[in-house]
Amino acid sequence: MYDSLVPPRRGVTGAEPAMPTVDEPPREAGAPRAAEPPQDRLAAVAAGREVEAEVHDSVLAEPPVLEVDRFNLWYGAKQALHRITMPVPLNKVTALVGPSGCGKSTLLRSVNRLNDLVQSVRITGDMRINGDSIYDPRMDVIELRKRMGMVFQKPNPFPMSIYENVVYSLRIDGETNRAVLDEVCERSLRGAALWDEVKDRLQESALGMSGGQQQRLCIARAIAAEPEVLLLDEPCSALDPIATGKIEDLIQELRGQYSVLMVTHNMQQASRSSDYTAFMYLGRLIEYGATTDIFTKPVLRETEAYVTGRFG
Ligand SMILES: Nc1ncnc2c1ncn2[C@@H]1O[C@H](COP(=O)(O)OP(=O)(O)OP(=O)(O)O)[C@@H](O)[C@H]1O
Ligand SMILES: [Mg+2]
Repeated sequence: MYDSLVPPRRGVTGAEPAMPTVDEPPREAGAPRAAEPPQDRLAAVAAGREVEAEVHDSVLAEPPVLEVDRFNLWYGAKQALHRITMPVPLNKVTALVGPSGCGKSTLLRSVNRLNDLVQSVRITGDMRINGDSIYDPRMDVIELRKRMGMVFQKPNPFPMSIYENVVYSLRIDGETNRAVLDEVCERSLRGAALWDEVKDRLQESALGMSGGQQQRLCIARAIAAEPEVLLLDEPCSALDPIATGKIEDLIQELRGQYSVLMVTHNMQQASRSSDYTAFMYLGRLIEYGATTDIFTKPVLRETEAYVTGRFG
């Protein structure tokens, strides 16, 4: 099943020259984890060499909702994503972490082909959503985007009522049955932990809500469309700690019901809210595994250094 996710040997695709890899010396069982600064793989990456990602078996054992397959992306001459291969597990929360500029948003935006809108962008490789090629030239991008929900850093409610924001995707699809719209509105707002706060003011403008409420409204709007995957790009970065806590609780509640791919800079948030964590650096996937493993016993000392805040 995962054959397509196994990267071919370097240099065999003809698209890229063979690159030397950097071999990590095996760590002896029980050997203390090194306290020295991050080096080896990250230094190799910084020097422009290609390295293999450490993808844990726990990730590969999950059925995927998304499969990123040898995906490269360039902005003009500058390569921003390097041969990313990663499955995103179904009905789990996956966090993307890594220093600023490492390509997290670029990867997220590539999933729903928002990067198509950037003229200088060129890609190779593919991604699949529930088995369907996202970059197949025959893929209808409008239909594709309906299959995923995206929530950005800054809440972007539409200038309309709370109710109309939530049922927006159904309106676009021509739904006019009031009972259906009411039901979806309530279910989505409950799903986004917002119902009790707004049930008496559904017809008021969404622009009058607080930032934290607006962000939960955007999540409700995304959920209402029943997306196959929910993409969240730093959904809490513009919020205060209380609103952040509410979004984190919400992400906890979405666990198991929705497939979520979430970018965060907040390591505590990643460790609290996600099932899996992928660590990226300079456009490469470095290590990817169950969140508890990434935070307590990562394979690479570079990952440990990053998640414990010793660099980045
Ligand atoms: N539209 C664009 N045109 C050219 N270069 C871009 C564009 N968007 C991003 N980049 C570059 O691609 C690289 C990855 O950027 P990206 O925004 O994906 O990083 P990020 O990991 O999301 O960072 P942050 O944590 O700061 O949000 C950066 O070097 C950035 O400057
Ligand atoms: Mg970003």
